[in-house]
Amino acid sequence: MVDVLLGLQWGDEGKGKIVDVLAPQYQVVARFQGGPNAGHTLEFDGFKHVLHQIPSGIFRNDILNIIGNGVVLDPIVFKKEIDGLSKYNLPLTQNLQISKKASIILPTHRLLDAAYEQAKGAAKIGSTLRGIGPAYQDKVGRQGLRVGDVLSPNFRKQYDTLVTIHKTILEQNNFDYTSTLPQAEEEFFAAVEFMKQFQLTNSEYTVNQALNDGKKILAEGAQGSLLDIDFGSYPFVTSSNTMTAGACTGLGIAPRQIGEVYGIFKAYCTRVGSGPFPTELLDETGEQMRKAGNEFGATTGRPRRCGWLDLPALKYAIMINGVTQLVMMKVDVLNIFDQINICTHYELPDGTVTEQLPYDLCDTTVTPIYKSFDGWQTDLTNVHAFDEMPSQLAAYVSFLEESLGLPISFISTSPDREAIIHRQALTV
Ligand code: GDP
Ligand code: IMO
Ligand code: MG
Repeated sequence: MVDVLLGLQWGDEGKGKIVDVLAPQYQVVARFQGGPNAGHTLEFDGFKHVLHQIPSGIFRNDILNIIGNGVVLDPIVFKKEIDGLSKYNLPLTQNLQISKKASIILPTHRLLDAAYEQAKGAAKIGSTLRGIGPAYQDKVGRQGLRVGDVLSPNFRKQYDTLVTIHKTILEQNNFDYTSTLPQAEEEFFAAVEFMKQFQLTNSEYTVNQALNDGKKILAEGAQGSLLDIDFGSYPFVTSSNTMTAGACTGLGIAPRQIGEVYGIFKAYCTRVGSGPFPTELLDETGEQMRKAGNEFGATTGRPRRCGWLDLPALKYAIMINGVTQLVMMKVDVLNIFDQINICTHYELPDGTVTEQLPYDLCDTTVTPIYKSFDGWQTDLTNVHAFDEMPSQLAAYVSFLEESLGLPISFISTSPDREAIIHRQALTV
């Protein structure tokens, strides 16, 4: 079976931590979309490590980690990540495979990302500028380069053909590439050579063989459902399908192989970059959340926008993903509040009250309707079981389980691997 773990909000829900916690139950952990725009943080034994493209099962030596065909891979970032892992002495050439069908991010993709954002002016997406959008554009436009191409004697020629096209676009946008590109290209080709020492495979065979052998696979989502290219707050989204269905196309597995779908969400909401955020708190409360949750991007360091939990958005994400179990993160961040809000409905400008996300969310101001809960104002460090939770937190959890119709199987109370309140999943 393939279990899928993904974010139900706008990313940074704490996926990396939960993949790391669940990883011992699996033989394979695989990334199926996204690229270096992701920043997944793991903390254990006093170490803190942020992974961008490498799956979060990498610290467990007996697990095979796969970068799937749906990923856009930047060789330069890959080399830096591998260098950053060297101090852990992991058997990386054995327990890491990269799909030959994964797309490659070129230095010019990063420049194009910057050029497109610059051209958009105030309407910019707030991209991480890692070249994600332009790399997926070339994939869909059937002119991209893939990891398997680096083994071809024609690789340099293929590269030059594509880069010539990119340069024309950059010139049309009056975007200077001459000052940075030569050095970036040097780094890129060195990184491509470096990458060749790893297993570059037809990973769809590896994955399906593992399934035939009865092995368990965990598919690790990046970004979040509200950043999905089809169902997110378009155009303020990323360029891949971040939802469960993306695991099938991003790894080469059949839909019937999907087992559990773990939906990860914070006990509140955050968003980096532009786009609608109905429950955003632009006041002191939002500031307190950002501080308590250390809400600064793991990839770009940008401050994350903060707000109360949004049930219409969460229900939508649960629906499109077929979530079977929920995981609630960062409840400790709410310890400081005497009152905690959950948005249960939206009021539209014409006075209609709805639980659904309007199509034109980007252009419509919706007013969140809140239900208030008493805060628990208790340190949760020593809470390890559901029946040890303060009564106010138990009420918060029960309300969510009832509203969402799903069990919350894990509650996370600090960044550390060990800080988790766990209970067996209820039958759904
Ligand atoms: P991801 O992209 O979904 O993997 O999440 P990020 O790593 O970008 O952001 C989550 C942040 O929250 C990281 O800094 C984690 O170390 C931290 N974190 C994870 N779980 C908890 C938790 O339960 N409490 C607190 N306070 N921090 C957490
Ligand atoms: P993880 O996996 C949070 C956001 C960017 C921007 C939009 C498009 O760590 O949860 P892109 O670089 O893809 O063109 O940016 O998506 N974004 C993320 N926000 N967490 C992420 O990944 C993100 N990856 C992209 O901030 O708004
Ligand atoms: Mg992140």
